[in-house]
Amino acid sequence: MVNNERVLNAFHAHYSHMDGVRLFRAPGRVNLIGEHTDYNDGFVLPVAIDLDTLVAIRPRNDSIISVYSVNRSERGEFDLEQPKEIERGNWVNYIEGTARRILKKGHSLVGADIALESDVPTGAGLSSSASLEIAVGIALLTISGEQVDRKELARAAQEGEHEYTGALIGIMDQLSSALGDENSALLIDCRSLDINYIWIDVTKHALMICNTGVKHDLATSAYNDRRRECAEATSIIGHYYPNVISLRDVTETQLMHVRDKMSPMLFRRARHVVTENHRTLAAAEALRNRNFDRLSELMYASHESLKLDYEVSAPELDLLVDTALTIPGVYGTRMTGGGFGGCTVSFVVRDRLLDFTERMKSIYKRETGRNLEIYQPEIVRGAEEVAERFMPVANE
Ligand code: GLA
Repeated sequence: MVNNERVLNAFHAHYSHMDGVRLFRAPGRVNLIGEHTDYNDGFVLPVAIDLDTLVAIRPRNDSIISVYSVNRSERGEFDLEQPKEIERGNWVNYIEGTARRILKKGHSLVGADIALESDVPTGAGLSSSASLEIAVGIALLTISGEQVDRKELARAAQEGEHEYTGALIGIMDQLSSALGDENSALLIDCRSLDINYIWIDVTKHALMICNTGVKHDLATSAYNDRRRECAEATSIIGHYYPNVISLRDVTETQLMHVRDKMSPMLFRRARHVVTENHRTLAAAEALRNRNFDRLSELMYASHESLKLDYEVSAPELDLLVDTALTIPGVYGTRMTGGGFGGCTVSFVVRDRLLDFTERMKSIYKRETGRNLEIYQPEIVRGAEEVAERFMPVANE
């Protein structure tokens, strides 16, 4: 768990006094369904979860942003007024990318001293990067006296990540972290950025996340490959159907008509996106009606499509999904996030949770030799200030 006191102590240790320090948080997310649809202008259905990045921040008199990370025991800095050449692989890039894009959108930012800590696991598909970007972004905007438009902030963070890390991600993670709400899924239209909040009845079913602890190396390059493949498929389909701007606009009938105009691989990529958009809208409806049987079918179909058509699953994820399906009381289970490792998400009937946890852990250990981490997250609000002008005296 991230801990206010630890972050404040770290701030104190690195930047001496505590006057004027403020605290902000932003959550990670888990996506219920709608995978690899966001960068195709489609629909997604994530929830914000109670794993956070916590930021202690104070303005400076110059244009330097200095950041101390409790997780890494490391400090990094950059100058808002003097961009340098981008050095790939540096963790500060997520912060610098966001800050520079905020500036580019016409806001002014002051320099700041920052200490931060996150309990969103990295490489697990739970949006540790977005939670970092949004937590720092909202903190910087607020202390600079700028208005916070959360959609604009999400866009700045996404664009910054493109430029500074080379990962050509969609908008889902940043929007979830900035705009999540308690016990609600966000049905996001990634074209208009309209959000419909769908209340989730968690009285009988709990949301469970199982972390394979595995992240395959090719994840970023394979992600960018999928984006490119989708663009290729779109341009072929657009040649026959000029109203098609992205895969969001393609119907299943249209796709079948042009099937022989593209490689079988491109066809499967497009089929995943077209069918996943339908499943996501249907799943939102099922959640609204508390129809967990239907939700369960859709989540499993999503997993199969990600595994066979989109080819972004991993043996460890398939093992977890196949195992969960044999356990009574599991309603819905699938890989979540970008894939190639990371986590699965499942709904499990509450009085079966113990059985679920024990069986998942023991089978995963037996088959892979690895320990399975399982989280039972709360569904929480998006980014916010934790306390106005927090001034602890205990450690001074
Ligand atoms: C990653 C990206 C998102 C989205 C998912 C796949 O989490 O950051 O934008 O594309 O993968 O659905």
